[in-house]
Amino acid sequence: MKTYKIATIPGDGIGKEVVPAGREVMEALTTAGAGLRFEFENFGWGGDYYRQHGMMMPEDGLDALRGKDAILFGSAGDNQIPDHITLWGLRLKICQGFDQYANVRPTRILPGIDGPLKRCAAEDLNWIIVRENSEGEYSGVGGRVHQGHPIEAATDVSMMTRVGVERILRFAFKLAQSRPRKLLTVITKSNAQRHAMVMWDEVALQVSKDFPDVTWDKELVDAATARMVNRPKTLDTIVATNLHADILSDLAAALAGSLGIAPTGNIDPERRYPSMFEPIHGSAFDIMGRGLANPVGTFWSVVMLLEHLGEQQAAQRVMSAIEAVTANPALHTRDLGGTATTAEVTKAVCDQLAAGRQAEAA
Ligand code: IPM
Ligand code: MG
Repeated sequence: MKTYKIATIPGDGIGKEVVPAGREVMEALTTAGAGLRFEFENFGWGGDYYRQHGMMMPEDGLDALRGKDAILFGSAGDNQIPDHITLWGLRLKICQGFDQYANVRPTRILPGIDGPLKRCAAEDLNWIIVRENSEGEYSGVGGRVHQGHPIEAATDVSMMTRVGVERILRFAFKLAQSRPRKLLTVITKSNAQRHAMVMWDEVALQVSKDFPDVTWDKELVDAATARMVNRPKTLDTIVATNLHADILSDLAAALAGSLGIAPTGNIDPERRYPSMFEPIHGSAFDIMGRGLANPVGTFWSVVMLLEHLGEQQAAQRVMSAIEAVTANPALHTRDLGGTATTAEVTKAVCDQLAAGRQAEAA
């Protein structure tokens, strides 16, 4: 039986509830006879670790993760610690340390979910957003001088390299090519951002030549928000810079019914390092510790993790189990207007996996 080494990092807030739920579903998959098993190692990094050690994860934390096949992450964010510390000290440290330069965010309206778009059918929204995950507006370049004085100055430089731009665009073209519609929209803002985004457009044109079977267009990021709402069907694969995609993916998740459902993968396409999968919702301090968190975003992230490991069949089983559960309004958590708990939804997905096995055996 194939064994995979998985690191779990629950992090902060509801991450501590949804990551164990994700692990339960992975274990249920093994019990259901999927022909694969997992060796988990849990890392208690995050806000609590910071209060004890003055850092979000140990200096040599990356070394502990290096030999894993994949990482399942919860969320980073603590109401007593500034956000830029929790983010840069843990999640970005892993993303950048392992050069997980492609952030992939699929969006669909799952069965039983009532999305806010009333003028389109659920099938009209089936997108995958590719977010540049290693540079751009999140490159960390910049500084502050004369702090607190009237002459204070601060910069955040968006740094784009030709290598960085080319590799994410190439990844996006390839992903678009693998999807039935072979349709890619390149998000830009080269009308206002007249240096790096102009290079981005040039590289897109250049890379497109290697993908003659992919239909592609360019859209300004502001216009893209309106298009997502008014003409969702005209979009399929979408590629954008780090910050542009950050914003568009929240819109996408909301249009699909809830941030609680949306998954993401921080991927090293070259497989030099482990990739990391996580729900896109944050730590949600308002509901933490109450068993109300929606674990579906984590379960869908598990699906992405399995796909990355090449376990397509197991991934499909978990996805079908998720869809059977979302289809039942009695199993909706609070973010979806329901009253189900994290534990109830988790059990329902595990039961579906077990039932799938019985159906197979019959
Ligand atoms: C996301 C999140 C993060 C980001 C936050 C928590 C800093 O919004 O993964 O989209 O902006 O990258
Ligand atoms: Mg975001």
